[in-house]
Amino acid sequence: MENKEIELEFSIKSGAPEKQRTACVVVGVFENRKLSGPAIDIDRASDGYLSEILRGGDMEGKAGSTLLLHKVPNILADRILMVGLGKERDFHETAYRDAIACAVKTLRDTGSMEAAITLSEIPIKKRDVTWNIEQAVITTYDALYRFDRLKSKSSEARRPLKRVIFAVSRRGELKYGEIGLARGLAISHGINIAKDLGNTPSNICTPEYLANEAQKVAKAHGFGCEILDYAACDKLGMGSFLSVGKGSDKPPRFIVLKHEGGTKGHKPVVLVGKAVTFDAGGISLKPPAEMDEMNYDMSGGGSVIGAFHAIGELKLPLNVIGLIPACENMPSANANKPGDIVTSMSGKTIEILNTDAEGRLILCDALTYAERFEPDAVIDLATLTGACVIALGAHPSALFSNHDPLAREIEHAADHAWDRVWRMPLWDDYQDQLKSSLADMANIGGRPAGSITAACFLWRFAKKYHWAHLDIAGTAWKGGRAKGSTGRPVSLLVHFLLNRTIK
Ligand code: BES
Ligand code: MN
Ligand code: ZN
Repeated sequence: MENKEIELEFSIKSGAPEKQRTACVVVGVFENRKLSGPAIDIDRASDGYLSEILRGGDMEGKAGSTLLLHKVPNILADRILMVGLGKERDFHETAYRDAIACAVKTLRDTGSMEAAITLSEIPIKKRDVTWNIEQAVITTYDALYRFDRLKSKSSEARRPLKRVIFAVSRRGELKYGEIGLARGLAISHGINIAKDLGNTPSNICTPEYLANEAQKVAKAHGFGCEILDYAACDKLGMGSFLSVGKGSDKPPRFIVLKHEGGTKGHKPVVLVGKAVTFDAGGISLKPPAEMDEMNYDMSGGGSVIGAFHAIGELKLPLNVIGLIPACENMPSANANKPGDIVTSMSGKTIEILNTDAEGRLILCDALTYAERFEPDAVIDLATLTGACVIALGAHPSALFSNHDPLAREIEHAADHAWDRVWRMPLWDDYQDQLKSSLADMANIGGRPAGSITAACFLWRFAKKYHWAHLDIAGTAWKGGRAKGSTGRPVSLLVHFLLNRTIK
């Protein structure tokens, strides 16, 4: 019952679009009927065929609009697909990605099995050919992704898009395009793994299932992989982590992935991913509306596994450790109760005032466990707070860090990956909100600044190294009818690591 990965073949080409012998050539048109460079070439070769269509008013260049043309004179391709790009001065990163996605979906829906897409030639401020191609590949995978392993009939198109050619404008750019292609493929495969894990429902995707999937990725790339069960975690003193899974019949797992690709003895980067395979809230039960979405509460862990796949595919010469505390947060007679006090691996005690603030309870022990690797940096990823969704919505992940250079490194990678973050304050002023009269701290800080107090809680366990926390509650999945995992922030993580290999 594996989800069938879409099979796509990519190539990079330079050369005249009118001479491409393929099922479809895709060209862009800006608003006010302004043709992009390759569209001008097609227009010239066809004695003004495209201009005439624009004059006739069939295509105005509005973003998201398309027009499919058959039998364009003097053109070797069977069809030309015109894609509206919106206003030229607004053609930035998001518009570029939207245009590629629109083109690819239209190709799929119109049965073109092969196409040459020239949108990748359109220059974008501050971006280079490598960026354009990498983003085109990632966007194509994203647009064509489907998760139908649990449908009785596959939703594969009758004539699916199989071969995609992305154009670059000069021969000299081909080699930069190839670099973008390799990165784009590795990242897309990693994103697809994260999406599949996120979309797999919690009756299938249990902590044990996640551990098996991590092991599969480890085997494929020669990573070390250790799976700690309840007894092993108990021995380590992970009283906080283990308390969360107590209410569930599904046993917890603490997953450790190890990529030793760098110089021996070099301090590793540690990636920590929250993996609550279902978050019912525990005894502090969540309301029923949208509770199904708590299936995605393992997305941090899924992204670590996805990022590891990409690290392996790119053979990054770095030492990287992945830590994934995985469990289920359910109400039961054995579950944590409000007022319970647990002892974390660090020795610090925590009063659990709300059993639904469980993410920090599992992450704090993972952050303590991370100390043994003497890390150069630790980054945790967690669908941690609903407050984060209220503050930032679905576009950036929230970034918190105790080390400005690390925060800047992540901001830079996020911008490059177009997997954006927004830095939030991590100030001691908020720590007061976590005071407890009976234990060292409470696990909630009241309504004001909910994402920040959650980060402040984690910060108390991350004093021994440089650390950043990404709250991905708003970015890891889309809700509503188009429900589904986004695979974020795999791309950001891979770029963060890639940048460390280039220095
Ligand atoms: N997994 C949730 C956070 C979440 C909620 C993500 C909604 C996306 C959408 C987390 O475990 C949680 O329940 N957090 C609580 C914390 C509160 C009890 C302090 C929340 O945000 O409501
Ligand atoms: Mn919760
Ligand atoms: Zn949760």
